[in-house]
Amino acid sequence: MAEINITEDIIGDINDQVVFITGGASGIGRATAELCLQRGANVVIGDLNSLPADLQSSERLKFVQVDVCSWDSLRDAFIQIEAWFGHIDHVFANAGVGPTTDFLDDTLDENGLLAPPNLRTINVNLLGVISTVRLASHYIQKHASHRSAGELGSIVVTASTASFQNFTAGDYTITKHGVLGLVRGLQSQLEGKVRLNAVSPSWTDTGMVPKDFIESLGAAVQPPKAVALSVALLFGDQKRHNEVIYSWEGKYLEVNKADGGLLQGADKILVNAANEDRVMVKLLEAAALGQIRI
Ligand SMILES: NC(=O)c1ccc[n+]([C@@H]2O[C@H](COP(=O)([O-])OP(=O)(O)OC[C@H]3O[C@@H](n4cnc5c(N)ncnc54)[C@H](O)[C@@H]3O)[C@@H](O)[C@H]2O)c1
Repeated sequence: MAEINITEDIIGDINDQVVFITGGASGIGRATAELCLQRGANVVIGDLNSLPADLQSSERLKFVQVDVCSWDSLRDAFIQIEAWFGHIDHVFANAGVGPTTDFLDDTLDENGLLAPPNLRTINVNLLGVISTVRLASHYIQKHASHRSAGELGSIVVTASTASFQNFTAGDYTITKHGVLGLVRGLQSQLEGKVRLNAVSPSWTDTGMVPKDFIESLGAAVQPPKAVALSVALLFGDQKRHNEVIYSWEGKYLEVNKADGGLLQGADKILVNAANEDRVMVKLLEAAALGQIRI
């Protein structure tokens, strides 16, 4: 896998384009908002928290209070952005929280019976991302005629290095595998319509992680702008679809489609991977025609 050298010079043109960023009030989302503004984009930050006092809303920077766990709240945000700008070009489904539970605790309910699992992290990091991607796909395609011929809008989702390794944070790791699964599960349907990609950061200095503690353990913590650069690259580069850009210490690898990457690794293990997906496509087509039931 070849390292990608991402600098501001290689980011494609996002000037005048409309970018919506969930979780944009802090950390990676905020750094991405600031970078997109510098690159001439119109930016809408959506967050549960308010716009930080040092970010001034303006003609080109809007804020919408949103809870990604609430469908109505998210849908209203997209409706508001459409009313402000008339179109949406890129969406960064990024809002997230840290781990809540591994589901193995013995918490009891008021009747002394095992309580249901706490789904806080699943709701934000996975279901919130699914809802955001559903709305993003709809609104980006709705405004396709606004773009030049052959130019597609895009969605970037925030995965993690927890998307493809053992990681002792039960619910968090499930959600980040799910976010990678979302890219894998939707990329072929979105091909030629909306580009769908992920960023996969290692430790990054944000509201979510205690930088000094992590560094005291000998691990490096990159600045959030390092991740923002990979998001902006994915927004602006029309060739990129179904990619996962892993970043650590400000260095980058595309790890999904690249030679030696995750998909190639799976191909080596699976006897008949291509055939399995070909069969799935045929099953879905036949089911849509009512020829079979699945
Ligand atoms: N920081 C890291 O080391 C790291 C590494 C890999 C992936 N990530 C991922 O990056 C993403 C961004 O997190 P961050 O590290 O910048 O942390 P952060 O805490 O600085 O930012 C997360 C933002 O999401 C917002 N948010 C949380 N729940 C929300 C909800 N229900 N609706 C709307 N907004 C909500 C928060 O208010 C906050 O502004 C997350 O998906 C996280 O899992 C972080």
